[in-house]
Amino acid sequence: MLRAIRVQFLAVLMVCCSHVLVGSFSSNYTDRQALLEFKTISDPRQSLRSWNDSADLCHWEGVRCSVKHPHRVTSLNLTSQGLVGQISPSLGNLTFLRVLVLLANSLTGEIPPSLGHLHHLRYVNLNNNTLQGSIPSFANCSNLLVLWLENNKLVGEIPLDLPRNLEKLSLFDNNLTGIIPSYLANISTLMHLDLVGNNIEGNIPEEFTKLLELQLLFLGVNKLSGCFPQLVLNLSSLVGFDVALNSLSGDVPSNFGSALPSLQYLELGGNFFHGHIPSGLNNASKLFHIDLPSNNFSGVVPTLANLSSLRYLMFTENQLSGDFPTSIANLNNLIMLSLHGNRFKGVVPEWLGTLPNLQIIYLDSNGFTGVIPSSLSNMSQLAELYLDSNRFDGHILPILGNFQMLQVLSIPDNNLEGSIPKELFKIPGLMQMDLGFNNLDGPLHSDIGIAKQLIYLQLSSNKLSGEIPNTLQNCDSLEDIELDRNVFNGSIPTSLGNITNLLNMNLSHNNLTGPIPVSLSSLQLEHLDLSFNNLEGEVPTKGIFSNVTAMRIDGNPGLCGGELELHLLACSAMTLNSRKHKHSTFEKLMIPLATILPLAIIVYVVLLWKRNQKKKSMSLNSFGSNYPNVSYHDLSRATDGFSASNLIGQGRYSYKSFIAECNALKNIRHRNLVPILTACSSIDLNGNDFKALVYKFMQQGDLHSLLYSARDGGDTSASNRITLAQRFCILVNVADAMEYLHHHNQGTIVHCDLKPSNILLDDNMVAHVGDFGLARFIDSGASSFSSMVSTSSVAIKGTVGYVPPEYATGADVSSSGDVYSFGIILLETFLRRRPIDDMFRDGLDIARYVAMNFPDRIIQIVDPEVPEEHHDSLPHTSEPMKEKIMECLLSVLNVGLRCANPSPDERMDMREVAAKLHRIKESFFSQLLESEVIL
Ligand SMILES: *[C@@H]1O[C@H](CO)[C@@H](O)[C@H](O)[C@H]1NC(C)=O
Ligand SMILES: *[C@@H]1O[C@H](CO)[C@@H](O)[C@H](O)[C@H]1NC(C)=O
Ligand SMILES: *[C@@H]1O[C@H](CO)[C@@H](O)[C@H](O)[C@H]1NC(C)=O
Ligand SMILES: *[C@@H]1O[C@H](CO)[C@@H](O)[C@H](O)[C@H]1NC(C)=O
Ligand SMILES: *[C@@H]1O[C@H](CO)[C@@H](O)[C@H](O)[C@H]1NC(C)=O
Ligand SMILES: *[C@@H]1O[C@H](CO)[C@@H](O)[C@H](O)[C@H]1NC(C)=O
Repeated sequence: MLRAIRVQFLAVLMVCCSHVLVGSFSSNYTDRQALLEFKTISDPRQSLRSWNDSADLCHWEGVRCSVKHPHRVTSLNLTSQGLVGQISPSLGNLTFLRVLVLLANSLTGEIPPSLGHLHHLRYVNLNNNTLQGSIPSFANCSNLLVLWLENNKLVGEIPLDLPRNLEKLSLFDNNLTGIIPSYLANISTLMHLDLVGNNIEGNIPEEFTKLLELQLLFLGVNKLSGCFPQLVLNLSSLVGFDVALNSLSGDVPSNFGSALPSLQYLELGGNFFHGHIPSGLNNASKLFHIDLPSNNFSGVVPTLANLSSLRYLMFTENQLSGDFPTSIANLNNLIMLSLHGNRFKGVVPEWLGTLPNLQIIYLDSNGFTGVIPSSLSNMSQLAELYLDSNRFDGHILPILGNFQMLQVLSIPDNNLEGSIPKELFKIPGLMQMDLGFNNLDGPLHSDIGIAKQLIYLQLSSNKLSGEIPNTLQNCDSLEDIELDRNVFNGSIPTSLGNITNLLNMNLSHNNLTGPIPVSLSSLQLEHLDLSFNNLEGEVPTKGIFSNVTAMRIDGNPGLCGGELELHLLACSAMTLNSRKHKHSTFEKLMIPLATILPLAIIVYVVLLWKRNQKKKSMSLNSFGSNYPNVSYHDLSRATDGFSASNLIGQGRYSYKSFIAECNALKNIRHRNLVPILTACSSIDLNGNDFKALVYKFMQQGDLHSLLYSARDGGDTSASNRITLAQRFCILVNVADAMEYLHHHNQGTIVHCDLKPSNILLDDNMVAHVGDFGLARFIDSGASSFSSMVSTSSVAIKGTVGYVPPEYATGADVSSSGDVYSFGIILLETFLRRRPIDDMFRDGLDIARYVAMNFPDRIIQIVDPEVPEEHHDSLPHTSEPMKEKIMECLLSVLNVGLRCANPSPDERMDMREVAAKLHRIKESFFSQLLESEVIL
């Protein structure tokens, strides 16, 4: 009401007053009115509370007025004021406006085209909002110097009529499409052009050679394609150049850098550049940041000795080779060095430790050898050291305990030996220690308790022994303890229950004894793995122990009680049984089995056709009385009269090989071996001697059928769909089982017939190795080869395609033969092509075929479903993710190639294979699973 009256009053004034007064009054009214219209925006923080009639508009929050024209607004700056809603077109009435900053609010809707009327506008910053629609014309804003529209949701193309005096244009992180218009080259004043993070296609227009003022050209994370833009060599003012994460390809000219004396910042990562790293970079002496990751650069690193300002040097994930680049020795200002994921080899030079400012060093995933240089411990600034997945050997020197700033020490997957020096635990700020997957031995020193700040302790897959020190409880920052696959003994310290921050603990595959400490149930654990030890007694029921999917305790025969879903014997029954005769256990097990049998269909039967009275008298006592008795009749009924669909193997196996299988299976238990239910020795209906091994039914059949049988039995052209992750997990399961057979038993069990049809898949697609008909036992104590089957009878067995070549020339069976079979299966699984495929002849076998196409043409030879899967399921799979998938595939196939090497001495052993695959799983699939790409 009040305002309406005033409007009338002013309108009267406007009619009767002089020209000057009209101008002044109407304009100061106009700006006020324009801002009041803007004020109708939602303002939850009341940032605009000063915008009221009682205050002069020139004192309103964020408003500045002209000195010459006191009531005309020249600057509106409302940074981070929590404003929500659309920008009022009325701002187009602020005709004196020079500066408009609405940075970091929650502005939506379109940018009002009326802003294009503001001739005085010099500086516009609408960054960090959620503005939509296309960019309006600013053609008439002839004074506009800076236009920042970063971090919005703008669409459409880059406007073709930007003002001619523009100096800085940033459209960073929007959703713009189209090409970079050559029109931009007419804006000769342009200094900064930032189009990072859009969907811009094409390449940089040739006309850009005219942009002699251009200092920053940031075009990363778009869809640029074609060759390296040569014209950039002419942009002599260039300070920063970024084309990372596009699809550019070809060589980078060797003189790139020579003509760019001002270049400081260079980002070429995530393209398809190949050839050498341009030697001209050495002439761009002001460079402080070189980042070239995830390309195909190869050859040796050129000299970079002139680059004394260099602080960041990243060659991550290329194909660079040769020894450790010597020219780095001069780069005294280096803060971060990454050679991660290349093919460097040789020793790491001692001089690396003399670079005084290095804070982060990535040398992981190369072929570095020798010992870790002791000089590194002199690096007073070093915070993170990654040496993973190389071939470092020798001892970890105690002097490495001298680090003062180190937070991350990561040396897993090498060949380190000797003990872990206790000095390492004295590094004051160490938060992550990863020494897993090496050959470290000796005890874990009680000084571990000094490392109170430690968050992550990874010592998996070594040969560490002795007891887990009680002092570990002092490390109460620990969130993750990985001590699995060592030979720790003694009991689990009750005091571990004091590590209140603990989330994950893996103590599996050790020789731990005694009870599970109840104290662990008071922790807020997310995962706990105590499997495959010799723990005994009652399983607690509270905390993590109530969540049977988050913890593992299998492979501990002495455990009892716990949650019902664990299906353990009640502790009272257990005590009773141990006091009674062994046969009582047998009776207890038999009753449930008899009821389950018709459902748990029997899948593996060995038929013996010989009718031999002497052999018939042999009982299966060697199998132990822990297994229930089943008659021929039971089996026949449960298998529909031994119908083919229920048999996984059948043959005229010698009596000896049957006993061999029984003996092999008697003592082994592993989650990735087919669990045996029982054995049966009987006479069949025709009076023949009959012996059977009864395995647990595996719902999903075997790997061979999974790979080759038609989906659902319907369309025969459609094969089963198997994701990359499923294939990978199956192979990890098999590797674990084989590692167990070869390395984790009293002796070595050689399977001798590893092939896809012997790899059975349960309901959850977990793989289990079965069929031990040809298994051989090699006594670890005596090197003598004590087989259970006569050598001659086995020499010709195994399956064509999977038998290692050396068996054909009479070599004794050995674990490396199984490694070969595993390698073939690995390659087969990713190619979905049998080793006896027609195409493999005249000396070409599956391993040679993969090797010949490795790495550049791998994508053409793998099962097309592997790369396609990600297009189907996730059309927006980002380029870096695709590269990650490719990188994983190459790492896995590389393991396959190293297993399927024709020369047994060149093959890895299963321990190494399992370790490598687990590393890949950790480093790759954890990320993928997080981003939910695969499963
Ligand atoms: C308009 O400007 C005059 C001075 O030129 C000033 O006295 C008056 O308060 C202003 N009016 C408003 C509504 O801001
Ligand atoms: C806008 O205001 C913020 C503080 O709110 C200030 O830091 C910034 O420099 C101002 N920007 C301009 C262009 O005046
Ligand atoms: C202010 O802007 C609005 C929207 O652009 C327009 O409709 C109106 O006529 C303008 N008012 C004045 C006083 O110029
Ligand atoms: C704007 O967003 C960028 C990127 O998200 C962020 O780094 C920056 O701090 C934000 N600026 C403000 C003022 O919030
Ligand atoms: C970008 O625009 C495309 C269509 O041009 C749309 O499909 C996509 O969802 C948009 N992306 C974002 C992040 O808004
Ligand atoms: C650590 O745990 C042990 C055994 O559970 C307990 O007796 C002791 O009081 C705990 N110490 C601390 C400092 O909490």
